[in-house]
Amino acid sequence: MAKQSGGNVDTVMQETRLFPPPQEFAARAKIGSVAAYEKMWREAAGDIESFWGQLAGELHWFRPFERVLDWQEPDAKWFVGGQTNASYNCLDAHLDSWRANKAALIWEGEPGDTRTFTYQQLHYEVCRFANVLKKLGVTQGDVVSIYMPLVPELTIAMLACARLGAVHSVIFGGFSAEAIADRNNDAGAKVQLTADYGWRRGAELQLKKNVDDALKKSPTVKHCVVLKRTGNPVHMESGRDHWWHDLIAEASSNCPAVPLDSEAPLFILYTSGSTGKPKGIKHTTAGYNLYVKKTFEWVFDYRDEDVFWCTADIGWVTGHSYVVYGPLSAGATVLMYEGAPNWPDEGRFWELIEKYRVNIFYTAPTAIRAFIKWGDHWVDKRDLSSLRLLGTVGEGINPEAWMWYHRKIGRERCPIVDTWWQTETGGIMMSPLPGAIATKPGSCTKPLPGIMPAIVDSAGQPVPQGQGGWLVMTKPWPGMLRGIWGDQERYREQYWTKVPHNYLAGDNARCDADGYYWIMGRIDDVLNVAGHRLSTIEIESALVSHPRVAEAAAVGRPDEIKGEAVAVFVTLKNGEPDEALRKELKAHVRKEIGALAQPDDIRFTGALPKTRSGKIMRRLLKDIASGKTTIGDTTTLEDYSVLAKLRSDEE
Ligand code: WTA
Repeated sequence: MAKQSGGNVDTVMQETRLFPPPQEFAARAKIGSVAAYEKMWREAAGDIESFWGQLAGELHWFRPFERVLDWQEPDAKWFVGGQTNASYNCLDAHLDSWRANKAALIWEGEPGDTRTFTYQQLHYEVCRFANVLKKLGVTQGDVVSIYMPLVPELTIAMLACARLGAVHSVIFGGFSAEAIADRNNDAGAKVQLTADYGWRRGAELQLKKNVDDALKKSPTVKHCVVLKRTGNPVHMESGRDHWWHDLIAEASSNCPAVPLDSEAPLFILYTSGSTGKPKGIKHTTAGYNLYVKKTFEWVFDYRDEDVFWCTADIGWVTGHSYVVYGPLSAGATVLMYEGAPNWPDEGRFWELIEKYRVNIFYTAPTAIRAFIKWGDHWVDKRDLSSLRLLGTVGEGINPEAWMWYHRKIGRERCPIVDTWWQTETGGIMMSPLPGAIATKPGSCTKPLPGIMPAIVDSAGQPVPQGQGGWLVMTKPWPGMLRGIWGDQERYREQYWTKVPHNYLAGDNARCDADGYYWIMGRIDDVLNVAGHRLSTIEIESALVSHPRVAEAAAVGRPDEIKGEAVAVFVTLKNGEPDEALRKELKAHVRKEIGALAQPDDIRFTGALPKTRSGKIMRRLLKDIASGKTTIGDTTTLEDYSVLAKLRSDEE
């Protein structure tokens, strides 16, 4: 049974498995014991300014900073008075060392073409492209909109912008012309970068065509640079459109990084807000750069000989922070793969790990659930012995999916870092340090050094230990967002007013007796059943622990007696559903987490609606479960046919 709570959210989940860091891993790890972690965390908590101030010495400073932090809530200025440059920290900083000729980027295209760039080579390309941008009139503070496939030129373009102090706004290649235009207009973008096409499951995505449509409605954009990726013809608007290879052919490779104030904007990244209006999250130079460098080194325990693969598209914050800025400022070797995990077959990722001897693999729960569904034989064919560390990000991971990842991919040897963070936080906030902290499946464990979370109720009071409530941050950190582009009032209102003097993350969480954090889902997704507030992930995890279930989404629908009834949408690993299975699943949930959480409705479906970054869109499912005929904002939906299918099932 659920515990009655005076706080916000009840917990029904019981997960008691504990996995200490493997001894060989801990012995070699930079932070190799709980004591070492706790000492660091306490020191940081005692004096955040001196903690971050000391670490900041790892960046290159054209001019040293005078003050670590100027905090005028909710506006933070980190490393005040200093000047640095993120492109310099990612490239030039390595050129005087042996790393100059180390692979920075190993890339594989979906069709199997490959390219590798050393730090020296990447520096050369970035300087040339920065000169191209300069020639097009881009200067410090200008916004450059980037809508490209996952190719090396995307990284090159971002670092070229950073080199000049231009602000990049990367728009994921799956977005529509409408979405590009909205973002371009909100940001006042001056230049557009794109490619003719992109590869996706063997088909060509019409990137340039989408840009052509978008630019009809983006009056601020004066130039468009087009990379030739597949080579099929595209329309080129004379005077506005230029081929990448033409411009680069004439560009010099001499382009010193511009010294930039610590708080100079580095990028804007749009996330979907609860309204349709795009929300441009703003990050600045020094604090973000330091934060992603340090969190990359701590969480992934990175060693110079490692090959690191984060599967995220650079169109998401995970790609910004852990494909580009974090790893490159740490001097790492990054693998980047352009295409889909199931092209030409469902074994592509394992083939890549075998081929490049990947050591650290960082992916999303939605991908892990797909791997499980596709079957173990894809994994068994390949040699994954190079792996030493696994990670996840983006959603809660159901404990059974965690166990599969641990057994099947990690061969029970590799720690798993379940990393909780947000576009807004810039980098990882809570995660196990893999050599120090024992893991529990489904928990992101503990805050990183310098991060001070709390869990409060809607009045801002701390909830009793073990109870679910709102997750807040009680202190600023260097990677935090500095605002919403062009709308500081919305920034204040959304993150800093509901719980005074705290950053409101928008997630529910609880903290257990060992001080481990468990994320319980978005605040808006809580189910209210007979006076009990239940979290989505706990019900879903109970369903996913049934051997036939691949994925599940739980939502509330209005119910006259209980307030809300529990409706779940379930996809199966294989086979057809029937009435007996429906009964069995209800009984399974009752047994796992209690009668209160037992689903009232179970709907089987071929696929769940997801955002383009792979998060289940419970909001849409809630509308469907409630029988609403009009459905809210669907612009972030990945595959419209999934929604159409769900709705036709209703009729
Ligand atoms: C969710 C992605 C549980 C959470 C970096 C957060 C997670 C939102 C986890 C941010 C995790 C992310 N466990 N939930 N390890 N990581 N989330 O902005 O709801 O795309 O608020 O940033 O994803 O998503 P965003």
